[in-house]
Amino acid sequence: MKNLIILSATALAALRCLAQQPDILLADFEGSDYGAWKTTGAAFGPGPAHGTLPGQMQVDGFKGKGLVNSFYGGDASTGTLTSPPFKIERKFISFLIGGGKDAEKTCMNLVVDGKIVRIATGPNDKPGGSETLAPDSWDVSELAGQTAIIQIVDQATGGWGHINVDQIVQTDRKPPLLLAGATREITLERRFLNLPVKTGGPKRQMSVAIEGQPPRSFEIELADAQPDWWAFMDIAPFSGKKAVLKVDKLSEDSTGLNAIDQSDEIKNSDTLYREKLRPQFHFSPRRGWNNDPNGLVFYQGEYHLFFQHNPYGWNWGNMHWGHAVSPDLVHWKELPVALYPDEHGTMFSGSAVVDWNNTAGFQTGAEKALVCIFCAAGTPFTQGLAYSNDRGRTWTKYAHNPVLPHIAAENRDPKVIWYAPERKWVMALYLDKSDYALFSSKDLKQWQQMSSVAVPGTSECPEFFEIALDGRKDDTRWVFFGGNGGYLVGKFDGARFTPESGPHALQSGNCWYASQTYTDIPAEDGRRILIPWGTMATPGMPFNQMMGLPVELTLRATDEGPRLFANPVKEYASLRAKSHTIPPQTLAPGENPLASVKANLLELSAELDCGDAAEVGFNLRGINVKYDVKKQELSCGDKKAALRQARGKIRLRLMVDRTSVDIFGNDGRLYMPMGIIVPEDNLSLEVYAKGGSGKIDSLQVHELKSAWN
Ligand code: FRU
Repeated sequence: MKNLIILSATALAALRCLAQQPDILLADFEGSDYGAWKTTGAAFGPGPAHGTLPGQMQVDGFKGKGLVNSFYGGDASTGTLTSPPFKIERKFISFLIGGGKDAEKTCMNLVVDGKIVRIATGPNDKPGGSETLAPDSWDVSELAGQTAIIQIVDQATGGWGHINVDQIVQTDRKPPLLLAGATREITLERRFLNLPVKTGGPKRQMSVAIEGQPPRSFEIELADAQPDWWAFMDIAPFSGKKAVLKVDKLSEDSTGLNAIDQSDEIKNSDTLYREKLRPQFHFSPRRGWNNDPNGLVFYQGEYHLFFQHNPYGWNWGNMHWGHAVSPDLVHWKELPVALYPDEHGTMFSGSAVVDWNNTAGFQTGAEKALVCIFCAAGTPFTQGLAYSNDRGRTWTKYAHNPVLPHIAAENRDPKVIWYAPERKWVMALYLDKSDYALFSSKDLKQWQQMSSVAVPGTSECPEFFEIALDGRKDDTRWVFFGGNGGYLVGKFDGARFTPESGPHALQSGNCWYASQTYTDIPAEDGRRILIPWGTMATPGMPFNQMMGLPVELTLRATDEGPRLFANPVKEYASLRAKSHTIPPQTLAPGENPLASVKANLLELSAELDCGDAAEVGFNLRGINVKYDVKKQELSCGDKKAALRQARGKIRLRLMVDRTSVDIFGNDGRLYMPMGIIVPEDNLSLEVYAKGGSGKIDSLQVHELKSAWN
């Protein structure tokens, strides 16, 4: 009897694979020049480009570092790039292609016997579009054995007058086709729609069209197979409605669209706030990207924190306003997205106020209206309003947006405050370069320009407020600063800001940008509280970046003039779990009175007498904060800043989280937030003196709890 051999499907597939011959790489354009490929004209430059060329939108989707990019010299340049002859030895030729869509002028041709037998182009034939290269292929089985050349052509000089190509391969495996406009219809019945994301994967344009709602459109690196993480969209308000999910292009073997599902909890919610690099006492969004804090406003016992947010990606993009609230600036609860992109653009930075006197007429009930003033980053950038009558839980865009039309360049980041002496609103707006303008309004809807302000060395994100000098309510100054915290101190007469000194640096760390201060803090509290964007990447996490520690700003007279001081808000004391007090003592080289203390999240306060030491400092979980006694300079990582001794002494306050060390020196005169990934396993602490002895006047370490428990 004959043996019967039965093969499983996988074994068959494996056999089939074996029958295929290995791929032949025709070109990957990783060299410094084109090798045996020949150019004519100027468009292809002296060799492969490394990504985006000057003046071009961001180019991505290519493989490795190099690609063909005929934007050399801009769209106006022309030329060709031609391969040496090769024999067609596989069934398919696959490649990545992008740029212009013109089958004669921006294209790639396969030429056999002097005749064009196959053509491919990029996807773009109108303004806008995308510089992302996408996979494409030719079936060349009928041309087997023939000799061919590949010619890449750029004969177009106008918009999209260029072509991008990479990774040309002969292969026997049928490359998956890209399907255009794949859709799926679902009925919404849970709180969240979960979307699989592969960070670094091909970018897809996706829309979710919910019955009766403007479609939500966004870019997403939709995972074709196993995702890195799951983004989510809040769909709770639309239960029972139909939604059409649409992806502009999708590989035919992608499972991405079908994998999108619904749930009442965010997918993998058991991992939330427990991720390896999750800051434990700095705010960060549950998933996706954050940059600037927006709309910092206090109302009815809640600090609102809105933020620039990409809910669907690890990188910047799709700007929404995320939203969180806190009773104490330490414990945050993230709420649904407050502002979605709309017909005026994506939602860039802005501020929020309580409209106590209902000047805009948005108030409908007993609650005061909260009003967000944001930049809609469309073409062009304009400023608009949104309001809430339910303590910020739901938001309505003002029907007659924009309230401030385009003024200049990429004008943005409106910061609005109430100017009580004239019962009017004042808006500081970024215009261009280091130029800002001040506007006024009686109702938040109609604005008049009053004056302009220049802050040399800074741009974006204006902040403008009055602050008491040394706490004296009758002796105030006005402070104006931009994105990097370079600030001017001066006077404001209701129309014009007159600087008296500055710009001065508010901070000297590597993890601080685009800060904002709270409006509507009750007068009896009177604090000026600031939150910056903590510009620190969290690689491999389902979220990226964080907010800086909320700090209280004070303006104090110094021998250099009035200067801002920053200190962590007092509410952080609530996180102290266990404290260690080291008694005053001399500190000789080689000694470490902190040797027996181990801590994970921690706060440390110290007063050190530098004595005759050359250097004093700390090693906190492997992070060195050192003070050069002679130079009177504190440094951490690659940052340094002046810290002066008073009678030989310095004071330091240090807070160590998972991805940062916040450093405050001499009661906040030095403010140095550092983004550093703190080594996970190192719990050791050291205080030291080198090159002589110093003295510990006081030293306390508080082990801190996570704010997320
Ligand atoms: C600052 C900034 C703002 C802009 C926002 C966009 O980081 O560039 O000027 O409004 O980010 O996300």
